[in-house]
Amino acid sequence: MCGIVGYVGGQDAVPVILDGLKRLEYRGYDSAGVAVVNQGSLQRRRSAGKLDRLASSLAAEPLRGEWGLGHTRWATHGRPTEENAHPHQDCGGHIVVVHNGIIENHLELKERLVEEGHRFVTQTDTEVLAHLVESAYRGSLEEAAREALARVRGVYALVLLHRDEPQRLVAARMGPPLVIGVGESEHFIASDIPALLRHTRDFVFLEDGDVATVTPTALSVRNLEGVEVTRPPQRVTWDPVQAEKGGYRHFMLKEIHEQPRAARDTLLGRFSVEDGEVLLDELGPAAAGLREASRVMLLACGTSWHAGLVGKFLIEHLAGLPAEVDYGSEFRYRTPLVGPGTVAVAISQSGETADTLAAFREAKSRGALPIAICNVRGSMLTREAVGSLLTHAGPEIGVASTKAFTSQLVALALLALHLGRLRGTLSPDQCREHLVALARIPHLMEQALSRADEIEELTRSLTHATDFLYLGRGINYPIALEGALKLKEISYVHAEGYPAGEMKHGPIALIDDALPVVALCADDHVYEKMLSNIQEAKARGGRVIAVAPSGNGDLRGLLDGPGDAILEIPSCPALWSPFITVLPLQLLAYHVALRAGRDVDQPRNLAKSVTVE
Ligand code: G6P
Repeated sequence: MCGIVGYVGGQDAVPVILDGLKRLEYRGYDSAGVAVVNQGSLQRRRSAGKLDRLASSLAAEPLRGEWGLGHTRWATHGRPTEENAHPHQDCGGHIVVVHNGIIENHLELKERLVEEGHRFVTQTDTEVLAHLVESAYRGSLEEAAREALARVRGVYALVLLHRDEPQRLVAARMGPPLVIGVGESEHFIASDIPALLRHTRDFVFLEDGDVATVTPTALSVRNLEGVEVTRPPQRVTWDPVQAEKGGYRHFMLKEIHEQPRAARDTLLGRFSVEDGEVLLDELGPAAAGLREASRVMLLACGTSWHAGLVGKFLIEHLAGLPAEVDYGSEFRYRTPLVGPGTVAVAISQSGETADTLAAFREAKSRGALPIAICNVRGSMLTREAVGSLLTHAGPEIGVASTKAFTSQLVALALLALHLGRLRGTLSPDQCREHLVALARIPHLMEQALSRADEIEELTRSLTHATDFLYLGRGINYPIALEGALKLKEISYVHAEGYPAGEMKHGPIALIDDALPVVALCADDHVYEKMLSNIQEAKARGGRVIAVAPSGNGDLRGLLDGPGDAILEIPSCPALWSPFITVLPLQLLAYHVALRAGRDVDQPRNLAKSVTVE
């Protein structure tokens, strides 16, 4: 959601900023702009729509910059027009600002600034920042920023420059992420790591309340009171190549195919088959707290929430611990019964989702032990957690989450097995058996993905479908939800996920030959029940696409209608079947979206990291 890039150093700032913004496109945006200073002149260029439009305008009338900043805006206050696009400037045209977040008291501030004589030209909340800094400016941009921010209520990641303070950027954070890339005699600022990976792997992660100043050779961070704070750079191990498409048509397709690797990397080094133990030393001080756990609360949003539902199943089944799952956005507005003895596990790809973070803080303040399952080292979530279990999916660029999801499932499986051993619900032998099966999963994922062409072919007959129903039971019910979400997100086709047993309580009324019913079957104790549900759909003229382990003749006999299909998956233990059943559903969504001509990697209205409530 909104992308920020800033640059100070020896290169021309314009291409550095544009390239960075391009790499942040996945965050979601609807207008873009840059501001740079060249030979004492501050110039802005902005445009509505995608970055290509800004790039064409810059190609037609080039700008050069000794230093500067840029932004992709996801509209909250005011339509996505050129006028509302960032950077915004003060009355004097000396100061520009780019901002991600929401200034909650902007109307109140604007009223006062207008009384003081400031002229506003946009409908955005951000513009107040430029005028606030202008009115506080007495020769130091950093001090003016601090003074202005003291009057602001809300969340922000922002970068400012002043035309008359050469080669200097001031950045501040309260909520949305902001990282500083450290180069040789140059510094970069960005909302997210992938924007800068081609320049550096050394990053300083700003924290809430930080105000940083960068010049080509210096970097200082102070808090809002002006007291210096230490933020040592951290080396990020992500490979820049992982943030490229690598020959695939879309990031999403590449990331779908990266899943066996991501699952393997997330498993690697975290268990001992000989001892039948999961080794989670990285949880640090949280490891001891797990012993006392009487309950687990899983908190997340979107796809990560679906991983939480699978996690609940695994934790209850393997560790005999009651587990509850809640949306970040709901948890904080109810009266959750959480206290000491509760382990609060926040699950998030980005570690920056505002609702998940808020729920996590709420659980923490009520005495829960906060543990993060997260894909981004150094993210806000991992910093707030007492212990973190990192997923090693690598950068996920496609807005629709795929490899982060299956890596989250690996982390949850490890956590559930670990809890099972700690609590004695699993013997070392039982744990070993599960681990051996789990270790084979990446290989089975490869086998499942090798049938991608069949799915592409199947989607030929699905181009006219306007609704889909996804059914699953037990541990595959969350996968039905996830399959439906994937389709909605990227193809804009309506889809619902349902527990198959609930179909007769409502959705069955929808069934006719125009509604594809996607039924998830696994080698488990509810397989027969799924067959009954499929029969119920068939009896009403439904067209069924079953995802099922190979060698199920009974299913073949059932699904012989013209629109019916069976997507075969390799057989695996029921407990780990979600790793496999989700794969055809991701591919199905991808190909349906592609045939509909959708922007698969950047679906409309969606953002990769939702940093506002
Ligand atoms: C956004 C993304 C989803 C993602 C959700 C949670 O809505 O579009 O793909 O599942 O945020 O994100 P997180 O980073 O917390 O997992």
